[in-house]
Amino acid sequence: MAFERTYIMLKPDCVKRGLIGEVISRIEKKGFKIENMKMIQLDEKILREHYAHIADKPFFPGVLDYMQSGPVVAMIVTGDNAIKGMRNLMGPTNYDEAKGGTIRGDFATSTGENIIHGSDSPETAEAEIKRFFS
Ligand code: TYD
Ligand code: MG
Repeated sequence: MAFERTYIMLKPDCVKRGLIGEVISRIEKKGFKIENMKMIQLDEKILREHYAHIADKPFFPGVLDYMQSGPVVAMIVTGDNAIKGMRNLMGPTNYDEAKGGTIRGDFATSTGENIIHGSDSPETAEAEIKRFFS
């Protein structure tokens, strides 16, 4: 198992619904460590960078609005296989596929409003940590 660092973000719906503690508790109980954490308000510029891979999708304007609708909690999470491990803990993107027991399965209200972001590869983890923590 490889020690990894990943970028995790608790989205505005997580903060508004008072689920910060619940979600962080699951991350810590799984054995991952929070190396750094801050609450920030995102702007359109950083979101256009962060979500460049979905910029041409019809749901992108909705993502831009939702992600600016309130503050997010940005974190660097570390541990063995933290990148895939956090994706497993989060559950899949698609609302219909996110099973109970995962963070999205238990708390997401739609595919768009899905509580949490996690990097999907070592390359994106490195870029996202740099984007939000430098
Ligand atoms: P993506 O990076 O594909 O998913 P993930 O967050 O699991 O890495 O998409 C970014 C966000 O875009 C996703 O968290 C929610 C939103 N989104 C939708 O609203 N509808 C969709 O059909 C998809 C694929 C994503
Ligand atoms: Mg993604």
